[in-house]
Amino acid sequence: MTTLVARPAVRGLRGSITVPGDKSVSHRALLLAALAEGTSTLRGLSAGDDVARTAAAMAACGVALEPSGPGELTVEGGVARLHEPAGVQDVGNSGTSIRLLAGWSAARPWLSVLQGDSSIARRPMGRVAEPLRRMGAIVDGRERGTLPPLVVRGGDLTGIEHRPEVASAQVKGAVLLAGLGADGETVVHEAVPTRRHTEELIERFAGEIEHRPGWARVRRSTLRPVDLAVPADPSQAAFWVVAASLVPGSDLRIAGVYVGAGRAGFLDVLARMGAEVTVEAEHPDEHTADLRVRSARLSATTVAGEEVPSLIDEIPVLAVAAAFAEGTTTFSDASELRVKESDRVESTVAALRALGAGAEGRADGLVVEGGRLAGGLVDAAGDHRIAMASAVAGLASSQGATVEGWEAVATSYPGFAEELARCW
Ligand code: S3P
Repeated sequence: MTTLVARPAVRGLRGSITVPGDKSVSHRALLLAALAEGTSTLRGLSAGDDVARTAAAMAACGVALEPSGPGELTVEGGVARLHEPAGVQDVGNSGTSIRLLAGWSAARPWLSVLQGDSSIARRPMGRVAEPLRRMGAIVDGRERGTLPPLVVRGGDLTGIEHRPEVASAQVKGAVLLAGLGADGETVVHEAVPTRRHTEELIERFAGEIEHRPGWARVRRSTLRPVDLAVPADPSQAAFWVVAASLVPGSDLRIAGVYVGAGRAGFLDVLARMGAEVTVEAEHPDEHTADLRVRSARLSATTVAGEEVPSLIDEIPVLAVAAAFAEGTTTFSDASELRVKESDRVESTVAALRALGAGAEGRADGLVVEGGRLAGGLVDAAGDHRIAMASAVAGLASSQGATVEGWEAVATSYPGFAEELARCW
């Protein structure tokens, strides 16, 4: 187990920082490039282990992936070159990999076995298995087909209309990816719109898709290869936005961040809290912008309802912001936190308390008392976002944070500790 010591920052965070390529976009770009007839170039992919697992799964199905420059991958895809993987596909810690791969594999005429680590073994899969079965795939797993490992026998799919019970871009993505290889139309209707990367990328790869906030419709498609620059990941930018807000004297710029629908909810929350973040150099076609963050005094807010899916991954670091704000912040309608890489209600509350904050879990969220944090010893609970949120708290605390289980950060942001070191 590795430990990171995040000492209090000795100076404001200044200058500019580049965060890794968007993880959600990276997974989908790989899965679609594998199907595209020809050679795609993907630049700025997330370098974390999660995306490496999706890439390895594609390689096992016959896709040729070659590094072609710093952070650049050439992907030779095409349906004719794909074949049944010889072994089990191991997704490691990546929930996005297993759910999207379930949908991708359901459209292939072969058997796929998908498994991951002990955290993946607890993550609900009924939400993807059920619609894929309705499309004609055979999907089984532990606990009557609801938990990994998942076994998918794909092929011969027919399109369906699906209304997911939980707001989940992974479920929507899995069904749409399966729909690309199904007869007829596949339509997903969402009661609460979620991130639209699957739709945007299917469009980019020239797939047959129509989409609006709340619904998407795909048909069987032949995809064309792309040259794609993956935008910077807003979920990773969020750590620096909160850090720069909390550390006095900061003025930090984060370049080229994806700020499209369903991802930038944390910016609205921080704006309500009084954060000084400006969105600059917007590229509406690419859904990207630069973020400029200056330190500010924060006050409490309430996070609930339809905005929650657009910031679900940012709640641990928003809870850190809340722990330094004036007043009591409540997060509700977020029971999905309980089925992430860790139970993030429990792990966020435990981390905040270990650092000296008042925090309490609720069935569907948490309540955080604002103030100052002394710092302390935190267990990352095997969860990258808990580890990084705790490090941000350490920077802004009076004595710093010692984060045990730092290795979890490798799933999404291997260079985070190196960037952090610039603060001391
Ligand atoms: C993701 C969707 C979200 C998010 C996850 C990535 C995606 O999960 O928490 O980190 O790339 O589609 P859900 O679909 O389970 O809400």
